[in-house]
Amino acid sequence: MANSGVEGRDCFTSKFGIICAAAGSAIGLGNIWRFPYVVGDSGGGAFLLIYLGFILLLGIPVMLSEFIIGRRGQRNALGSFKKLAPGKQWYLVGVMGIVAAFMILAFYSTIAGWTLHYVTQSIADSFAGKTSGEINQLFDSFHTRSFLPLIWQLIFMAMTAWIILSGVKRGIEKYAKVLMPFLVLMLIIMAVRSITLEGATEGLLFLFRPDFSAVDSGVILAALGQAFFSLSIGMGALITYGSYIKKHNNLGNISVEVSIADTLIAILAGVAIFPAVFAFGLAPDEGPGLIFTVLPNIFQQMPGGYFFSIIFFVLLAIAALTSSISILEVVVAYLTEELNITRHKATLMAAIAAAFVGAFCTLSFGVLKDVTISELHIFGLLDFTASNLLLPLGGLLIVIFVGWYMKPSDIKDEISNSGTLKVRLFNVLMFILKFIAPIAIAIVLFDSLGIIRVN
Ligand code: PFF
Repeated sequence: MANSGVEGRDCFTSKFGIICAAAGSAIGLGNIWRFPYVVGDSGGGAFLLIYLGFILLLGIPVMLSEFIIGRRGQRNALGSFKKLAPGKQWYLVGVMGIVAAFMILAFYSTIAGWTLHYVTQSIADSFAGKTSGEINQLFDSFHTRSFLPLIWQLIFMAMTAWIILSGVKRGIEKYAKVLMPFLVLMLIIMAVRSITLEGATEGLLFLFRPDFSAVDSGVILAALGQAFFSLSIGMGALITYGSYIKKHNNLGNISVEVSIADTLIAILAGVAIFPAVFAFGLAPDEGPGLIFTVLPNIFQQMPGGYFFSIIFFVLLAIAALTSSISILEVVVAYLTEELNITRHKATLMAAIAAAFVGAFCTLSFGVLKDVTISELHIFGLLDFTASNLLLPLGGLLIVIFVGWYMKPSDIKDEISNSGTLKVRLFNVLMFILKFIAPIAIAIVLFDSLGIIRVN
């Protein structure tokens, strides 16, 4: 069993374990599926620079805020707010986070299910000898079907629940420890293969040479949104993980290290994908289907592509899994701690309910594609509501809570481990938490709601 921490809670037992688990949450479909296609849609290098700025200025402080709330509250996303602000309405931020977690898990498992299917397709060598039209066709005929994508989604959800069921230490830490370094290694191999392709330079230039002529408010907002989703901030996943971090671990360092790891993996994914896209004369702005339609195409034209395609989709499935366990953990920690449901029951209940909602997301690409609300089908609606509304609103309230509600002395106490660590840049951090972060996040949120127009 895991070591007992404060009040007998399970804790991560090593610093490496915490880094792996938190980085495992951050690194997922957001980095490897979403990041490349958003970069591709947003014109490349300039987007990347803005994204990096947001990670540094907003991502790290918001992540730190979640860790502070979680470790100080020693509870789940909702319970931590109740404990730190008794009798106040702040716990509603936790409620919102749990709702967001549930929604994200539902649609996340759809894409993760596609990934699992692509692992088997790669093993079966299904893409060999196909034209890009036929590869598109293969994707279309798969993801619009009813039965098969649902089965893969269920398998993915079962895997997530199985990891959660084995508990904090034995589950998350053990799996993350093994999987994360493995994942990085595979991505490096992919990136090396990609940049040694003929004509790869153009892809590297696309990714790293900023062209600010393409930047408008939409690109800036897309960069902020991507930073948010990618770092797993705004819904309490890292409040929950923060509650498992021991009192002697350095929250500031962990936030910086996890953010750097997440960002490097996203860039690595970009380096693995764009040179190959350009080398084979394909379009970078393919949209959300990018990896599922373009990559098999590339792989089957590469020497050794059979193995690279298996490696890539296994990698993506692993990344998705270490993120989905952090999402499910938000709901399970709430159910066990606030409603006194056993961990076993809570996991099954949450996974089954999320799979049920998730099934509608999956079917919304096929039989339910005509069921729409304000032009969004079910998948799009859940994604929009969770990612564009709930995450920014949650993040906004989280920084306001830490910046304005919590006592600066308590924040300092938490960051300095009760005065045992030297805290640098505390005033800069407080300025960001009080002013810069809330204002920037509010811009994202209100723009997505159409309340303001930034341009
Ligand atoms: N950050 C994850 C990814 O990049 O795939 C997705 C995610 C996980 C979002 C956990 C939010 C969250 F709380």
